[in-house]
Amino acid sequence: MPERKLCPVLKWAGGKTQLLEHIAQNMPRACNRYFEPFLGGGAVLFGLRPPQASVNDRNEPLMNLYAQLKASAESVIERVRALDAAPVGKEFYYAARDRYNAKVAARDFDAECAALLIWMNKRCYNGLYRVNRAGRFNVPYNHNRKANLKSMDEANLRAISAYLREADVTMTCTDFEQACADVSAGDFVYFDSPYVPESDTARFTDYTAGGFTMSDHERLAALFRRLDALGAKVMLSNNDVPWVRARYAGYRTQSLDVRRMMNCNGGRRTGKEVLILNY
Ligand SMILES: C[S@@+](CC[C@H](N)C(=O)[O-])C[C@H]1O[C@@H](n2cnc3c(N)ncnc32)[C@H](O)[C@@H]1O
Repeated sequence: MPERKLCPVLKWAGGKTQLLEHIAQNMPRACNRYFEPFLGGGAVLFGLRPPQASVNDRNEPLMNLYAQLKASAESVIERVRALDAAPVGKEFYYAARDRYNAKVAARDFDAECAALLIWMNKRCYNGLYRVNRAGRFNVPYNHNRKANLKSMDEANLRAISAYLREADVTMTCTDFEQACADVSAGDFVYFDSPYVPESDTARFTDYTAGGFTMSDHERLAALFRRLDALGAKVMLSNNDVPWVRARYAGYRTQSLDVRRMMNCNGGRRTGKEVLILNY
């Protein structure tokens, strides 16, 4: 029987589902381990299913979701079902959001916290994950959602759980530089950091309380060069803006058209991304 296609569990800003085919076609022919230090919704990991992977994201509740799925898809599914069965509406959403934020503040990372994240992702405005300076999830309720909305594809959750258990996948929740400490010659690294802003008004980096600053982007560019020098194969995607082109001058580039969600009204627009490759 062919393997089931794995899909992201969450809608995630900057998700790479639309670029997956292009990324897959541009993977190196051979590599040892697969590294993805900015995992997000996991579109690329789940699309490629590498047999040996080391994946990371700084967002703790997000990495908890994958850890809980790996441990037991059924525990998460059971809790999402209970949430789906609850009375629909704004009051329940805000109570669930408070419960989630209290659990995150207490670092009570369990199957319920994972289920709340899945459930809110379907009911919050635009499926956006955004936190304030204190790290509290603050996206409002989306009134336009169907009342009997189902929050999950159970078969997909089970298939992701099986992949995470059966393949050799290491998961960490740290800064991207630390997540690459173990990369060696012949490994492949895919970097999809928060974007360099196109302009001062078009920035979204609030996946984590600290945001992602231009000095983080400088650190990332320096890390790219170090990994290149040690013989790893490296691919990076970002906004196609002059700053990115200048920082990665000398490497192979490809320009790609993408559809983007606008945070303010849920409409779509097109943009350009650049893929930087050292091979
Ligand atoms: C553009 S998203 C990745 C999207 C992903 N490729 C997908 O398909 O969904 C960037 C991710 O970087 C994470 N992040 C932000 N700062 C980080 C840091 N310093 N180290 C590691 N991850 C970080 C965010 O939590 C976010 O999930």
